[in-house]
Amino acid sequence: MKIFTFKSNPPLTPFAPQWDYSMGYENISNFIDCPKIANLILSKEKNIISTFPPVKKFSVDGFTDLGPNSLTSRYGYYNLIDWPEIEIKVLRDRIVEFHQKFLKNLNIEILKTVSIIGWANVMRKGEKINPHLHNVQPNSYLSGHVTIQCKNTSTYYINPVNQLNAPEVQQIKNVPGEITLFPSCMPHYTDTHSASTERITIAFDLSFKT
Ligand SMILES: [Fe+2]
Repeated sequence: MKIFTFKSNPPLTPFAPQWDYSMGYENISNFIDCPKIANLILSKEKNIISTFPPVKKFSVDGFTDLGPNSLTSRYGYYNLIDWPEIEIKVLRDRIVEFHQKFLKNLNIEILKTVSIIGWANVMRKGEKINPHLHNVQPNSYLSGHVTIQCKNTSTYYINPVNQLNAPEVQQIKNVPGEITLFPSCMPHYTDTHSASTERITIAFDLSFKT
């Protein structure tokens, strides 16, 4: 596992900002079946879009700009992580394991049970995901991505404190099987997808069970 941390230098004044945001990433393509998961998502895409309306929480698509007709705009209506197919069960176990490894790496002990809610993003030629974040509320925890199918794109993670004029950005190249975990308050976006095959990723939020 690789760890990347946005960390501030010690503040020199009482008003200087401080930050310490870590993210982890690793390739798990040896353990998950990306082609099968890609087919599974594509086979369910139309049905999910016709079954549920776009989300209506502040924006129709979670501020991604993928629009009200995208699969992304149905996030929150279903939990991909609970799909019954064996490929998804294997993926779920890998996410759980990666989360535990990430905490261990950072010497963080969490005694609460964590739940996972996941959804899929299918992007077609010319589409990109605009900067957005998932949660800045007191219960904000971790979010993640698993790249399933891609061609020449990256995901960019922005330092939550330094995100305006000259943002501090960590680029992570999209590779099938790449899993990332990052604080849910960390903004992120993608390149424009310019291949004729779909770019497919799974996104998920981890939260403490109440
Ligand atoms: Fe996101």
